[in-house]
Amino acid sequence: MSFPQHRPRRLRTTPAMRRLTAEHRLSPADLILPAFIREGLTQPAPISSMPGVVQHTTDTLRRAAAEAVSLGVGGIMLFGIPARRDATGSAGIDPDGVLNRAIADVRAEVGDDLVVMSDVCLDEFTDHGHCGVLAPDGSVDNDATLAVYAQMAVEQANAGAHVLGPSGMMDGQVAVIRQALDAAGHATTGVLAYSAKYASAFYGPFREAVDSQLKGDRRTYQMDAANRREALIEVELDLEEGADMVMVKPAMSYLDILADVAAMSPVPVAAYQVSGEYAMIEAAAANGWIDRRRAIEESVLGIRRAGADMILTYWASELALWLNETRS
Ligand code: PBG
Repeated sequence: MSFPQHRPRRLRTTPAMRRLTAEHRLSPADLILPAFIREGLTQPAPISSMPGVVQHTTDTLRRAAAEAVSLGVGGIMLFGIPARRDATGSAGIDPDGVLNRAIADVRAEVGDDLVVMSDVCLDEFTDHGHCGVLAPDGSVDNDATLAVYAQMAVEQANAGAHVLGPSGMMDGQVAVIRQALDAAGHATTGVLAYSAKYASAFYGPFREAVDSQLKGDRRTYQMDAANRREALIEVELDLEEGADMVMVKPAMSYLDILADVAAMSPVPVAAYQVSGEYAMIEAAAANGWIDRRRAIEESVLGIRRAGADMILTYWASELALWLNETRS
């Protein structure tokens, strides 16, 4: 009878041994909480496809931000839902618009204790739901959109955002935003570029969350799920244009992309565990098909292991709470 020469199981014998030998860990500081604020709400409104996530009022958003601070969460990413929409998304550049006010409110609440980020994109603000303005033929006009993004970015920086997240996948968006910020005296405002953002079915619940008006899809500007090399081009361009951090989105179906980007990026890499990923796990857990907490922890740890330095997840605060518990 011959015995195994190597016994990897030795390092799995006890919880303490497994903790000591863990190659990757999550920390609340790496987590970013995406949050929605809707203009004109008096009560937070549940989002049915994202159980546990709401459209906030000003008040509940401030409370959620304060809670994130107390849990040690790293950042918050704000999305606004305006009361009125138009073809050019003008509520997005209105200094009094829902998102710009929310940025100022959250900054007033958290100061510099939480990195306050905001979405630079038009889809929440346009009546057609596209991420940019339309050309007469109905296509999304890249260069006309850039001019609007530049204005949006300056207003968001004026409102107090620490970091802007351009998510519209227009060519050249990082460069115009960087130039506009610098010209307006916002040299220290950062840019987290949604560099490799794919046209994904997993954004489904987000469309409910922001009451999206979109008909059709975003395949002429977001990336094709078939493509891997192309993600590296997008990242290189964004770095050249001045991105301070880059992102891969969605996360779970794109872990190969995340690993590729993490291997080449000289700047921090974020991954966005999107609404549909959240919804899948919540739905399966609600049916008793998976262990909710374990599935959440495993999914986020997997994103970290693939190479994310920071993770946007709707579970950021709850996960931070669990991580703090296990530590104390
Ligand atoms: C665009 C934007 C979207 C998401 C984040 N920013 C929607 C889209 O591209 O269709 C999706 C996030 C999620 O699904 O959780 N402003």
